[in-house]
Amino acid sequence: MRAAHRRTALLAASVIAVPLLLTGPATAAPPQEETGPGADELLVIGHRGASGYRPEHTLAAYELAARMGADYIEPDVVSTRDGVLVARHENEISGTTDVAERAEFADRRTTKVIDGVELTGWFTEDFTLAELRTLRAVERLPDVREENTLYDGLYQVPTLDEVLELREELSRELRREVGVYIETKHPTYFDSIDLSLEEPLVEDLDEARLDHRRAPVFVQSFETANLRELDGVVDVPLVQLLSATGAPADLVAAGDERTYADLATAEGLAEIAEYADGVGPEKGQVIPREADGTLGDSTSLVDDAHAVDLLVHPYTFRNENTFLPAELREGAAPDDYGRAIDEQLAFWATGIDGMFTDNPDTGVVSRDLFED
Ligand code: G3P
Ligand code: CA
Repeated sequence: MRAAHRRTALLAASVIAVPLLLTGPATAAPPQEETGPGADELLVIGHRGASGYRPEHTLAAYELAARMGADYIEPDVVSTRDGVLVARHENEISGTTDVAERAEFADRRTTKVIDGVELTGWFTEDFTLAELRTLRAVERLPDVREENTLYDGLYQVPTLDEVLELREELSRELRREVGVYIETKHPTYFDSIDLSLEEPLVEDLDEARLDHRRAPVFVQSFETANLRELDGVVDVPLVQLLSATGAPADLVAAGDERTYADLATAEGLAEIAEYADGVGPEKGQVIPREADGTLGDSTSLVDDAHAVDLLVHPYTFRNENTFLPAELREGAAPDDYGRAIDEQLAFWATGIDGMFTDNPDTGVVSRDLFED
């Protein structure tokens, strides 16, 4: 059993007043031992980079996350028309780029059904990489993160190759391994249009010499079949993402009636352990909210997962009131910061092995408080 699993709950969800650096990067983290998988560290994963401070999935967001001390940076990947993996949370890009303002691409606006959901907009698979590179990233949540709109129009959509290169450069500069936690988005859909994500992923990892068991890499997915396939192909650890609702798109497509709720049972987790090394649940699957929005009691998910040697990395921790339990909000403004550290301490105390956060500096503070 990993050391992290043996940690007892040293701190309850106590109220600890800690001043936070809210708007800028923390100083570079000091050199550390290897923090790759198996190193028994509690991991802070920069969700879409430091997306609380920069438009998500840009090199600037990833770089800031690493400089804030994130152990891993998290690119979600989709494909271009010419088969290049690029970092976007979804293939429909009107919410995170300026594509809607580009007259030259007006005729690419279209409607598609992705994983059973009808979407209208612009899709990465309809753009070559060269075309996509003419776009610029914008903040997804301008109402919540108005400060981030300062950076609208500055950054391109990065390729996965570029993210891996940045990872290497930052690891060298910071004198610690910065990990990369890659999520393939909509793999069944991309298979259906002959733009399978797995082959270019394996190629990119190979080229970066990152396909080995001790590489600072996780590969994650909300689907199951692609992870089973990758299990026989790559040596890096795999993480099955879970959700509080719904079912994996590949199971739905295959007529398999299992849902995420089924996967999160002790029996479902034992099956996941046959091909994966961890699970990434929605944070409410670890500590659900009560009807009034306050934190409730933790579920058995962490213990059940650890019982079959699966790591547990819940998502997504954010500083703003709108994302926090009711009792940890400060003031009425949804975009003001609440007591995010207290929320995170409650989650560390359940025995989780890491967390995805839009605010890696906050995650580092809470992790360090918990470990002290
Ligand atoms: O991959 C963990 C977390 O990022 C899953 O949620 O929708 O932000 O990719 P999402
Ligand atoms: Ca993700």
